[in-house]
Amino acid sequence: STIGVIFDLDGVIVDTAKYHFLAWKNLANDLHIEFTEAHNELLKGVSRVRSLEILLNIGNVTLTDESKQNALISKNEDYLEYIRKMNADEILPGVNGLLNELDSQGIRYVLGSASKNAPLILKQVGLLERFEGIVDGNSVSKAKPDPEVFLIGAKRLNLKPENCIVFEDAIAGIEAANKANMISVGIGDKDTLSEADFNFNNLTEMPYDFFARLTQQKIK
Ligand code: BG6
Ligand code: MG
Repeated sequence: STIGVIFDLDGVIVDTAKYHFLAWKNLANDLHIEFTEAHNELLKGVSRVRSLEILLNIGNVTLTDESKQNALISKNEDYLEYIRKMNADEILPGVNGLLNELDSQGIRYVLGSASKNAPLILKQVGLLERFEGIVDGNSVSKAKPDPEVFLIGAKRLNLKPENCIVFEDAIAGIEAANKANMISVGIGDKDTLSEADFNFNNLTEMPYDFFARLTQQKIK
C-alpha cells in the first residue's frame, strides 16, 4: 500500500490515562500537591520527565535533581503495578476491528508513543506482535509535540511523511503529526483536538471507507 498508519498508544489503543493519574496522584500526595483529573489532562502525550515538571509547577514545589530522579522511579513503579494487571479486555473499542481491516487491505502500521512502557503494555494486552515496529519513549530524544517519534515511524514504514496517517488522542500528538506533515486523526473530543485533519470520538466511529478515500484523494 502507498499509505501507512502510526498509532499513539495511551488513549488510542488502551486507556492508561487513569493509571497514570493514580500514580501521579500518589506522588502528589507525598509532595503535598493538590492534583486533579483536570491537571491530568495536561500530562497526556507528554513525556514522563516533562510530566513531573508540570506537576511540580502546579504545586509550586522545587526538588533537587536527585529527588526528581527518585520521584520518577517511584511514580513509574506505582504505574507498573497497574500495568501488570492489564489484559486484552482493556483494548479500546474499535482497535481490533481497525487492525484487522488494515491487515486485510495490506496497509502497514507501527506504534508511535511517548511511553517507555509501550512494549510491556502491548504485551499485556496481547498486541505486541501485531505491530511492524515500535517507536516509543526509548527511541526518541525529543518528545511530542516534536515530530521526531512520527518521522522515525515513517522511516520504519519506508513511506514519505505525507503518506502516513497518525491516530492521536493528545493535543501534543496532533501538533507533532501536523509538524511532521502527516495526516492527523484526533480520537476524542473534537474541540480539544481541533487542530486534527479528521476527528472521531472513538475508533468505532470511523467510516468503513476512510482509508480507501484517503488513497483516492490527495488530502494534503
Ligand atoms: C504518553 C502518555 O503516551 O506517555 C503520557 O500520554 C505519559 O501521559 C507518557 O507521561 C510517558 O509514559 P511512560 O510510560 O514512559 O511514563
Ligand atoms: Mg495518547
